[in-house]
Amino acid sequence: MNKEELNRTATALVAPGKGILAADESFGTIEKRLKAVGVESTEDTRRAYREMLFTTEGIGEYLSGVILFDETIRQQTSDGRPMPEVLREQGVIPGIKVDKSTTAMPLSPQEKFTQGLDGLRGRLEEYRGMGARFTKWRAVITIGEGIPTERCISANAHGLALYAAFSQEAGLVPIVEPEVLIDGDHTIERCYEVTEWTLNRTFEYIYEAGVELSGMLLKPNMVISGKQCPQQAGVEEVARMTVECLLRSVPAAVPGIVFLSGGQTDIQATEHLNAMNRLYDNLPWELSFSYARALQQGPMETWAGNPDKVAEAQKIFRHRARMNSAARSGSYSE
Ligand code: 13P
Repeated sequence: MNKEELNRTATALVAPGKGILAADESFGTIEKRLKAVGVESTEDTRRAYREMLFTTEGIGEYLSGVILFDETIRQQTSDGRPMPEVLREQGVIPGIKVDKSTTAMPLSPQEKFTQGLDGLRGRLEEYRGMGARFTKWRAVITIGEGIPTERCISANAHGLALYAAFSQEAGLVPIVEPEVLIDGDHTIERCYEVTEWTLNRTFEYIYEAGVELSGMLLKPNMVISGKQCPQQAGVEEVARMTVECLLRSVPAAVPGIVFLSGGQTDIQATEHLNAMNRLYDNLPWELSFSYARALQQGPMETWAGNPDKVAEAQKIFRHRARMNSAARSGSYSE
């Protein structure tokens, strides 16, 4: 394992003022998102949409990396340039989602287990050859009646740790994503408890797997009220509970924490990140973003498949990226 190279890449991904765009929606997810704006999901509409994002002028100022989906890393822009090359020209590091999505947890069908370890070593080698320098694997933890269970959290933590080890072996920085879902009527306290549990298990397995902490990033949910909870915590409470939870579960040697947006509105996701960076200094890790919906919602609605709207959608995308860049230093104001 080349620890120096992994640490250099991980550190570059959380460089000051920069964060990550997650554009790695699987076929099912991108279909849902495109359908919501009246666009049929085809190989060509997916390419056109992602080309719109990646060719937005100046994004390299705010984005350190973009997470691609398997189809996208193999696609070319309309003028024939491979997608990873377009990103590199923008000064953005290409990454790739490598899990194979979730399946129902055996004997606990309300919960999910993330698949994708079979054949992973070969796929990682291929992606590295295509220019990827980091990877992502997402596990999903659901809060509900009697769940999550220890066996679901442990199984997913074990999967995340093995994936991270394979990734580092291939010279790719793993972004370890254990997402505790926002769905449900649970309180912020319950979210805190489950997030702390999940992160502690994840780092136990990461230790057992021999993963180098300085060459990885963590992509967690924020500690937040369930979407249907009648009592919604305010911005400062979310910021404080999230950081307090992370301080109790994430080793200081991890260079950065890059949050997912997880169904928050785009403004909320920016405000929460901003508050954390404003309220705390001298944290052991960088606090940054790796948003999909919170960066894409606005530009996707404006674009809606119309080539005449590309410039307008790009302007909205650049603005959101710039606002999150400001949130990295707690200096965001709309
Ligand atoms: P959201 O920011 O939309 O939660 O997506 C982040 C992500 O990459 C999920 O895997």
